[in-house]
Amino acid sequence: MCGIIGYIGRAEATPILLDGLRRLEYRGYDSAGVATLLNGTMEVRKCAGRITNLAQLVQKDPPNGSIGIGHTRWATHGRVTDNNAHPHLDQSGKLALIHNGVIENVEQIREQLLSQGHIFRSETDTEVFAHLIGRIFDDNPGPRTQRSLMESFRLALSQVIGTYGIAMFHVDVPDVILGARRGSPLILGIGKGQNFIVSDVSAILAHTREVVYLEDYDVVSIERDNFDIRSLAGTGTSFQVSQVEFTLEEAEKGSYPHFMLKEIFEQPEAIRNGMRGRLSKEESTAKLGGLNMSSRELRDVERIVLMACGTALHAGMVGECLIENLAHLPTEVEFASEFRYRNMPMNKDTLVFAISQSGETIDTLAALRESKRKGHRTLGICNNVGSTIARESDGGVYMHAGPEIGVAATKSFTSQITILTLLALLLGRIRHLSSAQGIDVISALENLPDKVRQVLDLSDHIADLAAKYAAAEGFLFFGRQYSYPIALEGALKLKEISYKFAEGHPTSELKHGIIALIRPEVPSIMIMPDDAVFDKNISSLEQIKARKGPVIAVASEGRKQVAVLADDVITIPKCPDFVSPILSAVPLQLFAYHLAVKLGCDVDKPRNLAKSVTVE
Ligand code: AGP
Ligand code: GLU
Repeated sequence: MCGIIGYIGRAEATPILLDGLRRLEYRGYDSAGVATLLNGTMEVRKCAGRITNLAQLVQKDPPNGSIGIGHTRWATHGRVTDNNAHPHLDQSGKLALIHNGVIENVEQIREQLLSQGHIFRSETDTEVFAHLIGRIFDDNPGPRTQRSLMESFRLALSQVIGTYGIAMFHVDVPDVILGARRGSPLILGIGKGQNFIVSDVSAILAHTREVVYLEDYDVVSIERDNFDIRSLAGTGTSFQVSQVEFTLEEAEKGSYPHFMLKEIFEQPEAIRNGMRGRLSKEESTAKLGGLNMSSRELRDVERIVLMACGTALHAGMVGECLIENLAHLPTEVEFASEFRYRNMPMNKDTLVFAISQSGETIDTLAALRESKRKGHRTLGICNNVGSTIARESDGGVYMHAGPEIGVAATKSFTSQITILTLLALLLGRIRHLSSAQGIDVISALENLPDKVRQVLDLSDHIADLAAKYAAAEGFLFFGRQYSYPIALEGALKLKEISYKFAEGHPTSELKHGIIALIRPEVPSIMIMPDDAVFDKNISSLEQIKARKGPVIAVASEGRKQVAVLADDVITIPKCPDFVSPILSAVPLQLFAYHLAVKLGCDVDKPRNLAKSVTVE
């Protein structure tokens, strides 16, 4: 979590750092800080709270210099206080460091430094890290050069256990910023007469689109006109300069009040982009060249395991139904966080997918590595081009949904389901699915963006419903088959951004306990599109109404019975059951959004959360 940015160039660093931090704020927003360097003088400003607090501090007393580092924090070690905000300094006060990650052997290093007389001003692991590098540098008997600073930096990195994406500078060795990554994302931005180190490209799009996605154990130094990337051992390492695909405008809110609303409304386009060039009517199948697998290899797959966290996990659950129904291939979904510590039996013909919007989620990445270590072919479904999961997987499919900044995932969810539908179609067509059935899937997919647009037109109606139910104590979400993961996702969205208590359940479980919660203060949201279990859902609806539970139904158009029984109805267009999860998910995103806005919550930066979970 956390966002970091380092700048070295010829302009004033502070405005560039602040602008970058605003764009990185979705990664963490407990506290923020900057440090700059000018003519041998370092200046630090930092405080708890949002970037706006830091901006006020900086405005009163601007730190000067054309070298600087900035940080927006998601606390792991130590409370949210001014002192715990980054940057942290070493014992000499000459070295400033920003850090994304967790140092696991912090206590041991702290003890060792305390015995050498070090005094710590914060409760963070990061400060200990800064002291360690400073200590090694100060003990180095040689001249204080860039080379000796780099040597000390490397030596310190080799003593640290844990994860880091870091950037630092030292007053005695001006004109260089050092960075390193292990487990947390770090990107080098290459400009003209200026260079950057950042957690995410969105922070530097105003300055450059040329980047190097650094690898774990890369160590980098940036000067105004140069950069150098080496391995932790100090040897040269190969790297590739890439061009960022998306534009600055795409990473901005435009006329929308929140990123989340913008991203909800971008779904028709995101779905279309995910399908572009991947549907073949001629062969009535999907083409996913990035999988790097021949038809024969795909045919020999006997089992699929989908690994993901949070919203991506819910997309995986829809994927399980899709692949089992369309391809008749045994499929399981696993919490990536559990998979990595479990001993799941997997035969050699198991194909593994890691699903992740950011491509940086630490648990999903660790699960991918564990699966690869066991010798399984492991593929990625990612949105972030060049992300660690995308690079470390044996192949995969990019979502092409465009940048998702809102902490609550929306367009990435429907985009992931779209990609999983393409995958199910491809696997199905290699197995039992006929050409005619393949064409049916293709036309359902092609009609999808317009149908999503029709659902988006319901936004005002859904806002009215959100206002009507805003005082509810909590919500229950129910769905069956394809709609069960949507119930989970609807509840997750609501919890994340409105802080209302919400639970998702299979509708069929109602009588096995949950019915005890039904009462007038707890509305139920029933997802009941036209499918094989529609009549069963009607019975459940009756049972809830019989116990005075208010019901909002999400149902296909033309179902008069639902309108009679439910208190309120959100009507979605008719569609085959396998595309219904996308159409049912959209109104639930809008419901959560409008309810959170009504309650005055900060929807783009919900309490305690951060966009990319890069620490365990
Ligand atoms: C979604 O609203 C959440 N913020 C969270 O559950 C998220 O989906 C999860 O952390 C996985 O993220 P990823 O797709 O970037 O791996
Ligand atoms: N461990 C550091 C802290 O607590 C950085 C946390 C992070 O990367 O989210 O300040």
